[in-house]
Formats: sequence, structure tokens, C-alpha cells
Amino acid sequence: MHVLPRRSLLAACLSAGVMPSGARAESDVGASALNARARRKGLFFGSAVSDEHLKGDPALLARVDAEAGIVVGEASFKWADLHPEADRYDYGRADALLAWANARRIRVRGHTLVWHEGNPDWLEPSLNAANAEKLLTGHIKNVATHFAGKLQHWDVVNEVLQPDDNQPLALRQTLWLKALGPAYIDIAFHATKAADPSALRVINEFGTDYAMPWQERRRVALLALLADLLRRGVPVQAVGLQAHLDAGETTLDQKVLSRFIAEIAGMGLKIIVTELDVRDQRLPANVASRDTAVADHARAWLDAVLPNPAVLGVLSWGLSDRRSWLNDKFARADKLAQRALPLDVDLNRKKLWFAIAGAIDAAPARPTSS
Ligand code: G3I
Repeated sequence: MHVLPRRSLLAACLSAGVMPSGARAESDVGASALNARARRKGLFFGSAVSDEHLKGDPALLARVDAEAGIVVGEASFKWADLHPEADRYDYGRADALLAWANARRIRVRGHTLVWHEGNPDWLEPSLNAANAEKLLTGHIKNVATHFAGKLQHWDVVNEVLQPDDNQPLALRQTLWLKALGPAYIDIAFHATKAADPSALRVINEFGTDYAMPWQERRRVALLALLADLLRRGVPVQAVGLQAHLDAGETTLDQKVLSRFIAEIAGMGLKIIVTELDVRDQRLPANVASRDTAVADHARAWLDAVLPNPAVLGVLSWGLSDRRSWLNDKFARADKLAQRALPLDVDLNRKKLWFAIAGAIDAAPARPTSS
């Protein structure tokens, strides 16, 4: 279900004398909060929420409630959590996030129905060419039906590209490609549409942010894959750009990025910034200089992306430095916690928060029909 900009939705409903279900009156959200700013432009802002925080960090959740209009489970909507055994589904964690969000009229996006990571131990050993389509469509049907009508988007497939694997369409050599060939992507999108036509169907990718050769290969590959999918009538509707940025990277070229966004939009596809964070792994330890570099880097990236009306909104991959995957996968040599997210460990707004706010404020308001 593509969300109408709040203003048009609100205007339409208020003119009919009713408050739209799911909308939040401006008055009940801090005027400066990120999602409040975003809604004024017909955008959204949101954040990933880990199961750990959902269960045990009420202070952080209160800030998510204040700043976000949409949330995504950091892991709770993946195969490992939802489908822990071949004949058993477990919706406990995902439904808990859904209930928390629904109680606050916050929307939810699903991440992700098909990936080469985040899978339960039983999956890969039991997958083969004979059972793969049944396993894939069975999972998608069960999960997307369970959440039907309740999610704004589904990341139907995640990180399917890997040009270095030298596979057709620069696809990553995954358990699904081995078992089904490139058609696994078609199968996934058609099965998702059949089970829940209301959720916007997204292909989610990383590594398309910088003017460096390996990322240019990924941009070219993604555009070619999208063209191929659309040509074959695969019902993809949007592209998720993960935007795991690196403040130590010097090859951010706003023209290259804007052109890439325009090419995706030119295909009639929407764009969502799905996992924004900015690692400071390569920066000196000084907190003030790290915060400034992270904020300036994010602002430059967002200023190249948000002006395109095909962009629907932004989610950060967590709201506070209390938790970030970056401290595992891209740990700093000095072991300092990275300052990659909008709020610090004490839930104070950092320069990155203001950079995101500024980029949203500077973005053009979406035409109400977008
Ligand atoms: O929930 C279990 C818990 O019961 C168990 O005690 C614990 C220790 O084994 O593991 C917990 O599951 C972990 C899960 O995060 C929830 O914390 C998994 O082992 C761990 O692999 C999982 O890592 C997540 C990873 O995706 C794989 O799903 C990261 O938190 C998450 O940040 C990361 O997010 C990905 C996006 O989905 C795709 N884009 C890249 C991004 C970063 O890798």
C-alpha cells in the first residue's frame, strides 16, 4: 500500500469529517521530530528496531515513537526468526513489533522475504532444484498472508547482486540462484503480490553510493536487472537503497548519485532509503570531528537523493548509537563505539540528526498525487 502524503490524506479525511486511521495529527508529534518534518514534505522518516530494544529499552522506544513514522525489524522479519524449523513458523517477535507500532499508529515495513543471510540452519542443507520453488513460494505465501494489509512495503529480495560472482545479470551466487536460476526473483515478486498486493514490492540493495569502480559496476548491474525484470513483467515497484555510508569515503559524487536516482525513477519505480547509517571507522577518535564528518557526509548524500520526487522516505538502521551492526562488521581499531546514527547513547540528538532534519527541510514537497 503506497502511503498518500499525510497532508492530502488528512485533507481528504478532514473534509469528510473523519480522522484517517493510521494518521497522526500534527499536534501529537513534536513539531521538530524527523517524521513530522518529513510528513510536511510528503516523505516519511523511520528506523530499524531490534528485538533486543523492543523487549528491553523503553527509553529508546519512546524516542523511536517520537521521531519515526515507520519502523522495520532489524532481524525479526527474516527467515531465521519467522521460520525457525521447516514445518514451524514463529511470528512472535514480528507480531510484537507490529503490535507496538500499531498501538502508536506507526507504520511497518517488512524486511526481507529472500536473502542469502538471516536464514535458519535447516534451510540451505535441505534446499535443492526439486523443492526450491515450493519452499520459496510456501514461505512467502505463509508470511505475506500473515501480514497481509499490515505492511507498507516488503523488501521482497535483498542484496541479489554480486558482479564478482560472474553469474547471469551480475546476480550473487546464492542458495536460491543455484537452485532456481535467475527466475527465483520473478517467483518471489509474483508470490508476494499474490499473497499481499497492498504492500509496495521492493528490491533492496547496497553499494551504489559512491563514484568508485566497484560501486559503478553495481549501479550499472542494478539498472540492467531492473530493466530486465520490468521487461518480463515482474511486479517490482520500488528500489531500496540501503545507504550504509562511510564518512571516510572521499568519492561521494552528487551528480553521479542524482543521475542514478533519476534513472531508477525514469523506469517508473519508487525509491526508499532503507538502512541509513554512516560509519566513522576510518576517522580519528575525536568525537566532535567524527560527528561533524558523519553529519556533513550524510547531508551531502541526502541532498543528492531527496530532491527526486520518486523518493518516498528514509529509514535509519537504528536510531541510537546504543546498538549498531557496524561495531561488529566494521569495528574501529581503537574499539570506540561508532557514532553512525542520529541519537547518541544518551538519546541526545547529534549533528547527524540535524543533518537529516536539514536535508528533509531542504527537500521539495512532494506533489500530493505522488
Ligand atoms: O535473535 C537471536 C537471539 O535469540 C540469539 O540469542 C542471538 C545470539 O545467537 O542471535 C539473535 O539473532 C541475531 C539477530 O541479528 C538479532 O539480534 C542473529 O544471530 C544475527 O545474525 C542478526 O544480525 C543481523 C543481520 O542483519 C543478519 O540478519 C543484524 O542485527 C542486522 O543489523 C543485519 O542487517 C542487515 C540487513 O538485514 C541487510 N543490509 C545489511 C544489514 C547489516 O548487515
